[in-house]
Amino acid sequence: MCGIVGYIGDKDAFPILIKGLSRLEYRGYDSAGVALISSKNELNVYKCKGKVADLQRFTESKDVSGTIGIAHTRWATHGEPNDVNAHPHYSSSEHLALIHNGIIENYAVLRKQLESEGYHFRSSTDTEVVVFLIEYIQKKNNVDLCTAVQLALHQVVGAYAIAVVEKGNPDCIIAARKSSPLVIGVGENEFFLASDATPIVEYTQNVVYLNDEEIAVIERNKPLRIVDLNNVTVTPEVKKLALNLSQLEKGGYPHFMLKEIYEQPETLKDCIRGRINVEGTHVALSGVIDNCEKFANASRIIIVACGTSWHAALIGEHLIEDLCRIPVEVEYASEFRYRHPVILPTDVVIAISQSGETADTLAAIELAKSKGAFIYGICNVIGSSIARATHSGSYIHVGPEIGVASTKAFTGQVTVLSMLALTIAKVRNTITEEKYLSLIKQIQELPERMKETLKCNEQVKDLSKMFTYANNFIYLGRGYNYPAALEGALKLKEISYIHAEGYPAAEMKHGPIALIDNEMPVVAIATTDSIYEKTISNIQEIKARKGRVIAVVTEGDTKVCNIADTCIEVPKVSEELCPIIASIPLQLLAYYIAINKGRDVDQPRNLAKSVTCLLYTSPSPRDYAAS
Ligand code: F6R
Repeated sequence: MCGIVGYIGDKDAFPILIKGLSRLEYRGYDSAGVALISSKNELNVYKCKGKVADLQRFTESKDVSGTIGIAHTRWATHGEPNDVNAHPHYSSSEHLALIHNGIIENYAVLRKQLESEGYHFRSSTDTEVVVFLIEYIQKKNNVDLCTAVQLALHQVVGAYAIAVVEKGNPDCIIAARKSSPLVIGVGENEFFLASDATPIVEYTQNVVYLNDEEIAVIERNKPLRIVDLNNVTVTPEVKKLALNLSQLEKGGYPHFMLKEIYEQPETLKDCIRGRINVEGTHVALSGVIDNCEKFANASRIIIVACGTSWHAALIGEHLIEDLCRIPVEVEYASEFRYRHPVILPTDVVIAISQSGETADTLAAIELAKSKGAFIYGICNVIGSSIARATHSGSYIHVGPEIGVASTKAFTGQVTVLSMLALTIAKVRNTITEEKYLSLIKQIQELPERMKETLKCNEQVKDLSKMFTYANNFIYLGRGYNYPAALEGALKLKEISYIHAEGYPAAEMKHGPIALIDNEMPVVAIATTDSIYEKTISNIQEIKARKGRVIAVVTEGDTKVCNIADTCIEVPKVSEELCPIIASIPLQLLAYYIAINKGRDVDQPRNLAKSVTCLLYTSPSPRDYAAS
C-alpha cells in the first residue's frame, strides 16, 4: 500500500528519490519522507504529512546532500497520517532509519517487550517497532546491520518490504521483503530500490525481484548480495524490464484515469493478441490449454477477487456457466479466507487481481492451494506475487494502470474471462460452432466497438454537469449488466465521494424503490439483450415514481429512449460482451462528475492502489506457465 524508493551510487540521491516517490504516489499519498546520509556523514530524516510536493517544499532549505538514501510515500494503516507517523522512522538512538510497506501483525507484543527494556516510541506505527528492534538486537549482540535485520525479522510476523540505512555507513542499504513487493534496479555503479519498477525504468532495464524472506545487501561499488533469513546466499537473477517510460506518463491527458479510459481500444488489442488466430476461427488461452483436463473435469469453479476485480468475476460467473455449464461461485477474497469454505481437490479456483498483490486474494489462494485445488490467476502485473503463487494463469496485458480507479484492467479482465470461457467451452463441447465463431468475431471487433463507444465522451461530459450536486445515485442492470451496474456505482463513489448503489433492476421493488423521488438519478443499463423487455418494465417503475433515468442503450434504441430522461447509445454487441462496452460511459460519467466536484481523481481520498507495473519479459509472454 505504501511506496518505497532507495538509491545508492555516484549521483545525488535526493532528486532520484523525489522523482521515484512521485511515480509511486498512486500507492499512497497521505505523507512522505526521505532519509539521506549526507556528505558530512549525518543521517538526515525529513518527513511530513501530505503529498510528495509538500515534502519537496518542506526540504527546500534543508541539507539534502548525499549519494545514498531511502524514501517513502505512505498509505496509513497504523496511526493517522501526520508528520510523526510518516516514514522513514529513526531507531531509538537515531543511528538507523527505516522505511516499510506492509503490516507487522505482532507489533503490539514487540512494542511491549521493547518498552519493558526502557524504549520510548514516538509514533503510533507498527513500523517504528521494527527499527527499534533492529537497533536493540544490533547493540545487544554487537552484530552488523545485515545480521541484526536477519535476527529481527525472525521475530516479526506479518508483511514487509523494508529498507534500512545506518549513520556512519554511507556505502550500504539493507532491504528485505515478505509478502510486499520489492525490486532492485542494477545500474552502472549504482543501485535502485523500489516497490515496483516505475521509479527504476528510466535509469536501467536490469532488475532483480526479491523473493519472500530474502535480504538484499546493496553496497556501493560491490556486486549485489542476497541472503535469506538464515544467511544462506541466494544468487540474484537479473531480469530485463519490458516497461516503456511513456506508459508511466499522462501523454497529454489531464489525468491518468482519462488516459486509461481512452487507452482501452489499444489495451484490448494487446489483451487479445496471440489468443485468437488470424482467421478468427479459434480462441485459446495457453494456460487453459496446458491444463485443459483440470478445467474440463472441474466439479466447480470458484472465483476469488476484491473490488473491481470481483465485479469482473461476477461477469465471469455468467460467462462460464452459460458457455461451459460448470457451476461457478464468486467470493470476496476477504470473506473466503476467513470462513471455513468447502474446497475440493476437483475445484478450480480462479484468482483475479489487477495488481497481483492484493493480500486477501493472495491469502485466499494459499487457503485453496492447501486444500489441493488447482489455482489459476488472471493478473495484469507480470511477475506479481499472485502470478507467482498460482499454478498457471493468463495476463490481461493492459499495461500499467496508474489511476487509482480501475478502468482498463476491468475491461481486460472481462475480455480474458470471455476468452477463457470460450476455450473451456470448446474443450467441453458445450457451445455450438455458430455461437463460438460469433463470439470470437465480436471479441476481435471489441477494440473498434470501444473506439465508437468513446465518441459519447462529449455527451457524458455535458450530462455530468446536471448531476454534480446529486447526493445519491442508483445504478441498475440485469444479467450480464448487473455487475456492470455495480462497477459503475463503485467508480462514482470512489472518485466523486457521492453515495452510489448498484442493484439488479428487478430487486428495486423489494425495498430500494422507496428511495426513488425526483431527486434520485438512476443510471440504467438497458441494452438489447435476452431480458431487455424486463429491464424496460423496471425503468417504467422508476419513472412512475419520478426518478431521473439516465439509460445506457444499444444504438438505434427507441423503446427505452421514449421513457428515460437521457439515453447514451453504445454499439450493439452480444450480451456476453456488453459489460465491456457499457462500462465506458459509466467510467466517463464518474470521471466528469468527480472533475466537476474538484476531486483528485487519480488519487482519491483514503484509497491507494495496492501495486501496478512490475513488467518484465517473462519466459512465456502470452500466458504464464505452471509454477
Ligand atoms: C476500484 C479498484 C479496487 C480494486 C481492488 C482489487 O477501482 O481499483 O476496487 O479492484 O482493490 O485490486 P486488485 O485487482 O489489484 O487485486
